[in-house]
Amino acid sequence: MKVYIETFGCAMNHKDSENILAKLKADREAVQTDKITEADLIIINTCSVREKPIQKLFSELGSFNAIKKSGAKIGVAGCTASHLGREIIQKAPYVNFVLGARNISKIISVLDKKGAVEIDIENDESLELYPSLPVSNFRKSINISIGCDKQCSFCIVPFTRGEEISIPTDLIISETQKAVENGAKEVLLLGQNVNNYGRRFSSLTPHRDINFTGLLKEISNISGLERIRFTSPHPLHMDNKFIEEFATNPKIAKGIHMPLQSGSNKILKMMKRGYTREWFIDRVERIRRAVPEVAISTDIIVGFPDESDSDFNDTLELLNIAKFEQLFSFKYSPRPLTEAKDFKNQIADDIASERLIRLQAIHQKIMEDLAINRKNKIYSVLFDSFDSESNCLIGRTSSGLLVKAKGEKINFGEIRNVKIIESMRTQMKGQIIF
Ligand code: 5AD
Ligand code: SF4
Repeated sequence: MKVYIETFGCAMNHKDSENILAKLKADREAVQTDKITEADLIIINTCSVREKPIQKLFSELGSFNAIKKSGAKIGVAGCTASHLGREIIQKAPYVNFVLGARNISKIISVLDKKGAVEIDIENDESLELYPSLPVSNFRKSINISIGCDKQCSFCIVPFTRGEEISIPTDLIISETQKAVENGAKEVLLLGQNVNNYGRRFSSLTPHRDINFTGLLKEISNISGLERIRFTSPHPLHMDNKFIEEFATNPKIAKGIHMPLQSGSNKILKMMKRGYTREWFIDRVERIRRAVPEVAISTDIIVGFPDESDSDFNDTLELLNIAKFEQLFSFKYSPRPLTEAKDFKNQIADDIASERLIRLQAIHQKIMEDLAINRKNKIYSVLFDSFDSESNCLIGRTSSGLLVKAKGEKINFGEIRNVKIIESMRTQMKGQIIF
């Protein structure tokens, strides 16, 4: 069986696709193909966090159906599958199955059931063990929780991925050990809200009393593992103990995502984020003091309902204080089922577009200033590949920055110190020094 799988959305969705493939390989000896016309099974693993990917889903389904091999099956998985369910088959009757997020372990059972819709929002997949696929580029993503308990007023995820359940610590440890034995040097711990880890476990199995900081400590004891990354954490749960562990544990990679969403206290409250701008700034300053080499990325939504010029200026001002190394910015997109879609004073699209452009322009300038400061510094870089065009080794710093370097021949998977010769906004060039 040849499988073509297309994935939109977050890292968890990509991990879900990996797990789907792993099951198909183990059960049906499936192989992945990048040619739709050759596939026996086409899966679109969707995202519903903003409106655009949903429009794209239906146009892609139509075009995939037109060119697919005769007899090939089409499945829709992921968050939009959860959210639209049977409606997908009503709109596109040639779709064979719909497999919602947190139902992906059912992939084999839906294959031969025309019209199957598996979207149980309470399905507990936290104990599921998937066959493993080979490690690539010395990295492996490992789920540490499913679902999300937060109620951010703009976000559809709690309705597509359901209530949060932490994966048992022992399972995470054994999966990490397995990944290291299979060549991983780095793991990416995944969850919608990773640092809420330990709040609730499956009722189907006993559990230990442990939080995210405790989990990081335990994982870092695994020998052979060099770097631990995680995404996405919530700023609200970044307590002092966590920051201390982040700063002092040498295995924890020094890049952190801190999704701000807005710099205005009024908007943060309407978003139900649970923190203030002052708390956020305090966390950023504390992390930067404790870890001077840290890189902080963020998510910002512009044009949230009732966002005034002054609210938006608060966001711009916070950008200039926090000086994020990376920014993911979005225009607010009203989502079904969410509270914010019914808020008064929805912002006109041209205003939101103009704010997005201003935000991104300011961030470009911040990135330029940060880049200048990195010149001549020395970073430890984990090299994973070679770029023949530039004749350079490619790797990432602990903080996650991309580095191209020239130097002696090394084995991929090795960490070396690199002196930065040229530093640009999104990448650096350097020389391996030892
Ligand atoms: N509109 C725009 N952006 C959104 N995000 C989540 N929901 C929405 C929405 N309704 C953004 C947030 C989140 C990121 C994954 O997507 O910034 O952190
Ligand atoms: Fe998209 Fe959110 Fe679902 Fe990830 S969890 S795929 S970001 S809607």
